[in-house]
Amino acid sequence: LIHENSEAASKYVAEEIAKLIRQRQSEGRNAVLGLATGSTPTKVYDFLVEMHQTEGLSFKNVVTFNLDEYYPMLPDSIHSYVRFMKEHLFDLIDIPEENINIPDGSIPESEVKAYCQAYEQKIESAGGLDIQILGIGRTGHIGFNEPGSSLHSKTRMIRLDRVTKLDAASDFFGQENVPDRALTMGVGTIMNAKKVFLMAWGEGKSPIIKDAVEGQIRESVPATFLQIHSNCDFVLDDASSQFL
Ligand code: GLP
Repeated sequence: LIHENSEAASKYVAEEIAKLIRQRQSEGRNAVLGLATGSTPTKVYDFLVEMHQTEGLSFKNVVTFNLDEYYPMLPDSIHSYVRFMKEHLFDLIDIPEENINIPDGSIPESEVKAYCQAYEQKIESAGGLDIQILGIGRTGHIGFNEPGSSLHSKTRMIRLDRVTKLDAASDFFGQENVPDRALTMGVGTIMNAKKVFLMAWGEGKSPIIKDAVEGQIRESVPATFLQIHSNCDFVLDDASSQFL
C-alpha cells in the first residue's frame, strides 16, 4: 500500500488499529496488539494518542506485546524500549498497566530461556496477536530477527548485526555503547499474527524494501518470510517504494 507520505501512511495504520479496538469493544473482548519501536511507528502512536484525546478512543480493552528490547537493558534507562513506549504511547493513553508486555532486558542471563518461553505463552493465552506492526532494519530484520533467523524462530536472545549496531549508534552516543544482544519475538511469533503491517519511510529503506517484497524468500533477509504471510501489508511512502 503506497501512500504519498509517511503521515498519510501512518494515519491509515492508526485507523486500522482503532477499527479493531472499537470492534472488539463492541464485542466485549480485548484487542491484542504487537507493537514496534524505532522512528518508523512514532507517527502511528501520535495518531492513536490524538484519537484518544479528541475522539475518546479508549485502550482499556487493549493488550500489547512489544517486539523486542536490548539486552542487557534496565527498564528505566533512557535507551530502553520501555521508556520509548511510555513516552510515545503508554503514558498518554488509558491502557491498564497490567495489559502492557515488553521483553525485560534486566532479567539474569540464566533466566532468559524460561522468560522467553513464558512471553510466547502469554501471547498465546491472550488469544494471539490480532495486529502486529513492524518497521524494518537495513539488514532486513523484523523485530531484532537478524539475518540467519529461521521461519519458525520464537522469542529468544539474539546477537545484533554490525549494521544494526551502526544504525543504533546515534541513539547511544557511539557504536561502542550499543548492547551486543537483544531479546526479540521470533519470525514464527510474528508469522502467527492474524494481520501484519510492515511500514517503511524514506529512500534509505528502498533497497531493503525491494528485496523484502521481490527477493527470494530466505533466512539471510528475514523480512522476505512475510511474502508467505496470508494477511500482511507493506505500508510504504513514495520514497521507500521507488525500486518496486
Ligand atoms: C530497531 C528495532 C526494529 C525497527 C528497526 C528500524 O532495530 N528493533 O523493530 O524496525 O530498528 O528502525 P527505524 O524505524 O528507526 O528505521
